[in-house]
Formats: sequence, structure tokens, C-alpha cells
Amino acid sequence: MEGRLNVVVFMALMFVGAMLNGSSAQTTHVAGDSIGWIVPPGGDIAYRTWAATRTFVVGDIIVFNFTTGMHDVAEVTKESYDSCNANNPITMSTTGPTTITLTSAREYNFICTFGSHCILGQKLSINVSAASVAPSPQPTTPPAPAAPETTPSPAVPATPPPAASPAPTPMTYVVGDSLGWTVPPGGPIAYRTWAMGKTFMVGDILVFNFSNRQHDVAEVTKAEFDSCNISTTTTAPITTGPARITLSSAGENYYICTITQHCSWGQKLAINVTAGTGGSAPAPSSTATPPSGSAPPPSSTVTPPPSSGGLTPSTPSTPTPPPPPPSNSAPSFAVAALPFTFFAVAVALFN
Ligand SMILES: *[C@@H]1O[C@H](CO)[C@@H](O)[C@H](O)[C@H]1NC(C)=O
Ligand SMILES: *[C@@H]1O[C@H](CO)[C@@H](O)[C@H](O)[C@H]1NC(C)=O
Ligand SMILES: *[C@@H]1O[C@H](CO)[C@@H](O)[C@H](O)[C@H]1NC(C)=O
Ligand SMILES: *[C@@H]1O[C@H](CO)[C@@H](O)[C@H](O)[C@H]1NC(C)=O
Ligand SMILES: *[C@@H]1O[C@H](CO)[C@@H](O)[C@H](O)[C@H]1NC(C)=O
Repeated sequence: MEGRLNVVVFMALMFVGAMLNGSSAQTTHVAGDSIGWIVPPGGDIAYRTWAATRTFVVGDIIVFNFTTGMHDVAEVTKESYDSCNANNPITMSTTGPTTITLTSAREYNFICTFGSHCILGQKLSINVSAASVAPSPQPTTPPAPAAPETTPSPAVPATPPPAASPAPTPMTYVVGDSLGWTVPPGGPIAYRTWAMGKTFMVGDILVFNFSNRQHDVAEVTKAEFDSCNISTTTTAPITTGPARITLSSAGENYYICTITQHCSWGQKLAINVTAGTGGSAPAPSSTATPPSGSAPPPSSTVTPPPSSGGLTPSTPSTPTPPPPPPSNSAPSFAVAALPFTFFAVAVALFN
């Protein structure tokens, strides 16, 4: 009886916590998001950019997602981090994925000790702040009231559906995640890294989150994307942010900001869109493009920017991500009591 009551109270707390923008919610961070813990393309700017968009608070969890035997993760001193010295690590884990709880307010330095992985950029340095100090920035409610949350299927791993999967629901991607649509630190590698490993399907939605007049977004041709020369742009840019663009055709899509120099400084995004499996979309010859391309063949199927259908700022209809999971003042209890649910929710949120 009493135990049962406790469960009810706890569930209620979980629910209330989820509704509130708690000031000390425990957050699970997946290092590198969907690229995981690898030797990043373009060097350590990838994890620097990733970390720059986040606030780490004592009690937060960081997940290093790697294949056991391919990588490892070691916490090292600042000196060892800078020099990629793998001797005398503070902690070491060789089994992926590794989950590390950030227990103190200080700088943490992580490297992979395999071969030259660290030198090639597989290193992450973060500053963790005390829980009470950080009023974690919460996403504000978007303009329109979100549709009632559909229950996320808890047990399903957040991987893209296999090719045979019937009628996948459209995904909404916030371009650059919390970085938003901006001139990225470190140049175009930021949006290349962001797009890496994601599978974009016809019907999915890209949200370009920017402030009006500071940026815009235009769909352009490959030539315009490559040169950042927008004098030939045929489609007027969307100047109102956040801009929601529904991916309407399969093939390569290119987006840039047309404000002076922003494109050449790296505010540009190229993605491959795969035809949906529903069969409703007329699929051009180049359908299933594997996300991790092997040998890139010379692409001949560049879709010209559609005159009307391409840039469609659609009305918000998809539910926005719920606020981070709660913990209130008892994170250890939450973790101990509902590890699976907590992890599943966290994975769903931060993937
Ligand atoms: C880790 O990576 C695998 C393979 O890419 C993926 O299926 C899984 O969802 C990832 N886990 C997390 C916690 O991101
Ligand atoms: C952490 O903070 C220290 C002191 O403010 C600073 O020198 C260091 O560069 C910061 N590290 C990161 C990874 O932001
Ligand atoms: C867009 O950016 C603003 C300011 O950084 C942020 O508050 C908001 O949550 C972001 N919206 C989305 C959909 O990410
Ligand atoms: C941009 O394109 C226009 C028309 O194609 C061309 O005349 C101009 O020289 C180009 N500018 C640059 C900087 O390449
Ligand atoms: C899209 O796929 C083609 C063919 O696999 C490849 O050549 C091209 O580099 C890809 N583009 C992007 C932006 O991933």
C-alpha cells in the first residue's frame, strides 16, 4: 500500500517535473550528438562546436557513444588533453557506450587514446558549472500551441527506420540544434558535422532558427552553394525566422544565408534527401542515398530550386520536444528508480 503510494507520488513528481522548466534538471548529453564519439571529420572543431552550444551542470550525464574496440574514452589532465598524452589518465573506459556523470564543477578533459585519434580531433573539453548557478536556458514555447504530445515509444532506439519500415512519420530537424542558423564558429564544418549521420526523407521538416534581419535562408543550386555567389539566386530567401522548410523532393538540397559573407563564413547547409518509402512521392533516379557515402560518384541529379514548392514555410504542426526530464532535488533517486525510462527519454530528447 505504502509502496504503491510512493510509486504514484513519484510518477506524479515525474509528470509535474516534466511540465516545469526546472532550474536544476539533470541533462544527458550525447557527445557529438548523432555522430557519436569518433574521429570527427574536420578535426576537433566538431566537439568544440558541439560543446559550445551546451551548458553542463553538476549532475548532468555525458554519453560517449562508440564501438568497443574502435575507440575508448579517458579523462585526462588539461596538459594531457592539449598534448594528446594518453599516459596516466584520470579515468579510462574501453567499453562503448560509456556514461559519465559530471560530479563536480570544474573543467573535464576527455580524449580517445587510440592511435592518433586525439591528434585528429577526438577530444572534448567542457566546463561544468555548479547546479545552483545555472538557470538552464529552456526553449520557449513556440508561437502556436503545440499539438498534444504523442506518446514517444519508449523502447524503440532512436535510429532511422530501416528501408522496409512502413510509413515513417516526418521528422523535424532544428538545423544546427541549439546553435541555430548562424555564422558558425569554425566555418562550414559545423553544419557538415550536424548533417552527418542524419537521414533526411521527403516530408521531413528543417527548422532554420534565426533572428529576423540578422540572417535569412535561401535554397540554392550546388553552384551557388559552392561559390556563395548568390547573384543568380532564383528563389527569394525566407527572411522571417524561425523558418520551417518541408523537404519536398529527393536529391541534394542546398541552403545558404544570403546576408553578406555569411555563406562564405560557413552559414551553409547541404543535405541529401531520400525519397520516402510511402510511394506517394515521385522518386527520381537517385533514390536511396546511403548517408555514409563510400565513393562519391559525380552527381548529375542536382535538383534546381523549385519555383513554388521548394521553400514552403509551413505552419507548425509537429509537437516540439518536451522539456528535459526532471530530477528535482533527487537525481540519484530518479536514476536509481527509473534508469530505463530516464535513459530512453534522454536519448529521445538529445538525439
Ligand atoms: C549510439 O550509436 C548507435 C549507432 O550509431 C545508435 O544506434 C545509438 O542510438 C546511439 N546511442 C546514443 C545514446 O546516442
Ligand atoms: C573553462 O573555464 C576556464 C576558466 O574560465 C577557461 O580558461 C577554459 O578555457 C574553459 N574551458 C572550456 C572548454 O570552455
Ligand atoms: C530558437 O532560438 C531561440 C534563441 O536561441 C531559442 O530560445 C528557441 O528555443 C529556438 N527554437 C528552436 C525551435 O530551437
Ligand atoms: C557571380 O555570378 C555572376 C553571374 O553568374 C557573375 O557575373 C559574377 O562575376 C559572379 N561573382 C563572383 C564574385 O564570382
Ligand atoms: C549526396 O550524395 C551524393 C551521392 O552519394 C554525394 O556525391 C554527395 O556528396 C552527397 N551530398 C551531401 C551533401 O551529402
